[in-house]
Amino acid sequence: MKKVTVPEIIKMKREGKKIPVLTAYTYSMARILDSSGIAIILVGDSAGMVEAGYPTTLPVTMDEMVYHTRAVAKACARCLVIADMPFMSYQVSVEEAKKNAGRLIKEGGAGGVKIEGGVRMAETIRAIASIDIPVMGHIGLTPQSVHRMGGYRVQGRDEKSAEKILDDAKAVEEAGAFSIVLEGIPAPLAEKITATLSVPTIGIGAGPHCDGQVLVLNDMLGLNRDKKLPRFVKRYADLEGVIKGAVKEYKKDVEEGRFPSKKHCY
Ligand code: KIV
Repeated sequence: MKKVTVPEIIKMKREGKKIPVLTAYTYSMARILDSSGIAIILVGDSAGMVEAGYPTTLPVTMDEMVYHTRAVAKACARCLVIADMPFMSYQVSVEEAKKNAGRLIKEGGAGGVKIEGGVRMAETIRAIASIDIPVMGHIGLTPQSVHRMGGYRVQGRDEKSAEKILDDAKAVEEAGAFSIVLEGIPAPLAEKITATLSVPTIGIGAGPHCDGQVLVLNDMLGLNRDKKLPRFVKRYADLEGVIKGAVKEYKKDVEEGRFPSKKHCY
């Protein structure tokens, strides 16, 4: 099976091919995604919220990201695996950022890392890209900035902040990122950024004109029905319902002595 590479992702934009991206955090889910034709698996720090139950992504540690990335990378014969750099793993110094990016490649087995932030993170992106670690940027609604933003709010609604986000996009591309996630921005702004950049944009809550799209796997599979989902999420399955049904049937079988049956015994 041919592995998806960073140059191929860049080529997909040139050829006008849309780039399907999903998050995954475990071996079992990554194995399914890898054999379903997804181009990139993002090991997002959203793992902290959807797998560990944290209220934000802020508590996620490097060790947790290495653990999730290693599990996902082991399952991927084909997908490009990109690992999120968690909060405070790249903000303190460029040297620390390089070391931590290196851990996600060396210990986690990722093919690249993702960093939130625009102009202010350009130097860090440049330093990591310069040691041949591919970097995916992430601008607009950046979940690690939840306290500054005052919640998970759509960014770039007015002219001034839209201009700032366009500047962020240009700075991240110029610093050497091979692609950029555009999260939670108006569709016309994402369209303008996508037309301006030569590297692919991957949208989440950024409309249809991005070069690719990403969703949090647990959201699109209907695995967190206790949460109110943002408007941009399309739910493609009700796995919570499927799992609940199976668990209830198992419980009943055990309680009523139907499981294990003869064929499950040695
Ligand atoms: O952490 C994550 O899953 C992400 C995506 C939503 C882009 O950053």
